[in-house]
Amino acid sequence: MHLHVVDHPLIAHKLTVLRDERTDSSRFRLLTEELVMLLAYEATRGIRIEDKLVNTPVSEFTGTALSNPRPVVVPILRAGLGMLEGLIRMLPTAEVGFLGMVRDEETLEATTYAERLPADLQGRQIFVIDPMLATGGTLVMAIDFLLERGASEVTAICLVSAPEGVARIEETYAGRAEVTVYTAALDERLDENGYIVPGLGDAGDRMYGVV
Ligand code: URA
Repeated sequence: MHLHVVDHPLIAHKLTVLRDERTDSSRFRLLTEELVMLLAYEATRGIRIEDKLVNTPVSEFTGTALSNPRPVVVPILRAGLGMLEGLIRMLPTAEVGFLGMVRDEETLEATTYAERLPADLQGRQIFVIDPMLATGGTLVMAIDFLLERGASEVTAICLVSAPEGVARIEETYAGRAEVTVYTAALDERLDENGYIVPGLGDAGDRMYGVV
């Protein structure tokens, strides 16, 4: 498993505004989209490509196209939805699958309540999006689910991660080169309620309002 903490001044700036409790939902959603686009620049370096011949107004040119099988983007509902638009703008050929997972606020255990994925994940490059990597329980469930269905590579893109969650992913996928995590920040710790400190609060609530 590879971990990349993406260090870039634009990402640090946008993430600081995102963390600020005064940032309202509409700006929070916009910043989330912008952050995922910046993270995608790094996280898609290994995306499969093939040659593509085009004619410029001057001559032939052999360029590049995203190749088949198409990559698959999988937002983890609910908060992962806020990262979807930004990522598929960067990956226009991607198919989109959905995983609905919720964690019990007392046990912090994750359960799957919805699943809609392309039938065949054999050999596919998958991008899982979930803004908060807290205990890692949800992400491990999601990655296992995708690898069991034949995914060849799973790249998770997160905004804020806790050391506890990263350690859980590292232990679970030690020596597994097909699992990679990109995060915009590695924070201090989890609090007793499973919130990342300093974090940004509940990402889903901040995007969509408290439900
Ligand atoms: N999920 C969130 O939305 N925020 C946290 O801090 C931890 C998990």
